[in-house]
Amino acid sequence: MFNLLVIGGAGYIGSHMVKQLLEADYHVVVLDDLSTGFENAITAENARLIIGDVGDRALLDLLFSTEKFDGVLHFASLIQVGESVAQPARYYRSNVAKTLTLLEAMVEHGVGPLIFSSTAAVFGEPEYSPIDEAHRQAPINPYGASKFMVERMLEDFDRAYGLKSVALRYFNAAGADPEGRIGERHDPETHLIPLALHAVLGARPPLKVFGRDYSTPDGTCVRDYIHVTDLAEAHLRALEYLWAGNPTARFNLGNGNGFSVQEVMDAVERVTGQPVPHENAPRRTGDPAHLVADSRAAKSTLGWNPRYADIDTIVAHAWAWEQKRVRLR
Ligand SMILES: NC(=O)c1ccc[n+]([C@@H]2O[C@H](COP(=O)([O-])OP(=O)(O)OC[C@H]3O[C@@H](n4cnc5c(N)ncnc54)[C@H](O)[C@@H]3O)[C@@H](O)[C@H]2O)c1
Repeated sequence: MFNLLVIGGAGYIGSHMVKQLLEADYHVVVLDDLSTGFENAITAENARLIIGDVGDRALLDLLFSTEKFDGVLHFASLIQVGESVAQPARYYRSNVAKTLTLLEAMVEHGVGPLIFSSTAAVFGEPEYSPIDEAHRQAPINPYGASKFMVERMLEDFDRAYGLKSVALRYFNAAGADPEGRIGERHDPETHLIPLALHAVLGARPPLKVFGRDYSTPDGTCVRDYIHVTDLAEAHLRALEYLWAGNPTARFNLGNGNGFSVQEVMDAVERVTGQPVPHENAPRRTGDPAHLVADSRAAKSTLGWNPRYADIDTIVAHAWAWEQKRVRLR
């Protein structure tokens, strides 16, 4: 049975990955410091959780010398753009330096391949949209820069040490486990769909709509929401791609359909039966009008096909989770 190490597996995307891997009969070890993750996000008893820091070299040495892994999936990272601008040192330490420690340990112990969680933020201001892999990379904040630096390290580590990897650039991860067992639990929450649902539940102030004068059909920003289960699926395809002997690569992952903030609010109203309490606010700096992934390369090369591209389904899964979530606190 294949044995996989999932770093950050107690977080939002990582926990959906763990669930999917276990359902596909992989053996899973989770390494997570629980800084933003939750022990009860790992729903299956047969996934072993090691509470620890990915930057702890002694822990990695112990792990890699006592257990054989057929691959590593690395989700652990700080993820807030605004915080990264205020605290770049923390972001470079956590996202770059600790990943370097992981890569060195993997090379030394002959562990691989690696699937790395990257982001649309590696591109910076879009020069065109949909954004394909050939788009210029010019990140505009330390979060995006930290992921860009790791992507660069991955190329260099392949060239020098033969460490094979796939970097997957997610656009906006959204939705929840279709069975409703796990979902998104960020604190603070910055993502549109949970914010809109929390506003409907009265758990937060009205949703702020930043800008209604963009050059989009309804004037609000258009983003690409990819279902978290589809994201997890892409990681499995990426592992199979590397196990088949294919080269190190990067892929953009989106669902291929952009939805505007207003369209998401409309979907929330259809799903919950209630309008989203909201107020209009000025544009935020650095928010492009349109940010959508061109995922054709992931589809053709990895054979990946998102199943939940419909915004109502994405919102419905997130809504089912939000109603259950209160019991898991
Ligand atoms: N959520 C999105 O929309 C989105 C978009 C693009 C990219 N990403 C990337 O996907 C990955 C996962 O994001 P998420 O939304 O699931 O975040 P999350 O905060 O829910 O999960 C991150 C997990 O990593 C763990 N962790 C953090 N630092 C660690 C460390 N030093 N050692 C061990 N564990 C550590 C946390 O406890 C948590 O369980 C991140 O790398 C993020 O940059 C997310």
